[in-house]
Amino acid sequence: MLLVHLSDVNEADWISRLAALLGDYPIVSRNDRFNPDDIRYVFVWKPLENAFEGLNNLKAILSLGAGVDALLRHPNLPRSVPIVRFVEDDLTRCMSDYVVANVTMHHRCFTRYRRDQRARNWSQYYPPAARNTCVGIMGMGVLGQDAAKRLLALGFEVRGWSRSPKDMQGVESFSGPDQFEKFLGGTDILVDLLPLTPETENILNYEMFLKLRRGRLRDGPVIINAARGGHQVEADIVRALGDGTLGAASLDVFQTEPLPPDSPLWELDNCYITPHIAAISSPQSGAAYFANVVLDHEAGKPLLNVVDVERGY
Ligand code: NAP
Ligand code: GLV
Repeated sequence: MLLVHLSDVNEADWISRLAALLGDYPIVSRNDRFNPDDIRYVFVWKPLENAFEGLNNLKAILSLGAGVDALLRHPNLPRSVPIVRFVEDDLTRCMSDYVVANVTMHHRCFTRYRRDQRARNWSQYYPPAARNTCVGIMGMGVLGQDAAKRLLALGFEVRGWSRSPKDMQGVESFSGPDQFEKFLGGTDILVDLLPLTPETENILNYEMFLKLRRGRLRDGPVIINAARGGHQVEADIVRALGDGTLGAASLDVFQTEPLPPDSPLWELDNCYITPHIAAISSPQSGAAYFANVVLDHEAGKPLLNVVDVERGY
């Protein structure tokens, strides 16, 4: 039996889509009456504290989130049950759309021309060619590699940084803490697609911004964070956007979400804020993914996209 425990999203929509795809396989919501011993899979988003209570026969926990940092911090998470995270083409495409939109906006100096427009100033500054602009992607997993492919097709120079080296045609690979500075030193537009772990917390800070390449983008290097707010020190971003250490920032995620009304980030004309919408898990394609996880595993196939709990992603 599959138990659905989704907070803060349209749970009924997910259940009806999943039920249609699961055939005879039973599905219940947390408000239904059921015997906890019958639950083999629990599908969660923002699970309440008692979400796993009495679920002693779980085969897998299914995470609606692609990122599992919050789930791994759940105080009552059953540590021995595998967690399957959301990895799916529509979500990946959506994230790459966000990355491409923001990279191209900054590459074409959107902030500068908007300021000029407001000042009725006609100033013909020509942005550098894409081939002379390097996008550095932190996190070369499912999302980072797809974004890299899309940016390469647009002619950008692309480099990636991950824990282990990658062999991707056209992308210069950097790995581990030892190669981090070298990676930053050739990056004009930094894209963050890392998971949130103890190693990556607060990684986007003022000292790090100082290490990005200067001179290619006339108004300074740019950061784009579509990963997790826990990566960024927001006071440092405000300072760097104000003193020219950074030319601009696109932020989809924040230390506190929703972003509090008194955050100074709202006021900055070189800060582009979106409300954690870069890539949402849509019920249309998501239900098919999770129904397959259950049916395939019931048919004896191994679970895919299982989180390494020790690594934290
Ligand atoms: P993934 O496939 O697990 O990839 C993670 C990448 O980060 C891997 O390349 C990994 O290196 C690298 N990495 C992890 N820790 C590192 C470290 N300490 N130093 C250097 N590299 C490190 O994850 P994904 O599916 O691409 O998703 C990435 C993140 O995007 C998620 O965790 C989530 O937080 C975020 N996300 C945000 C949204 C949104 O709407 N804003 C939507 C979906 C996901 P290895 O390859 O060597 O393991
Ligand atoms: C969204 O942020 C996700 O991790 O899926």
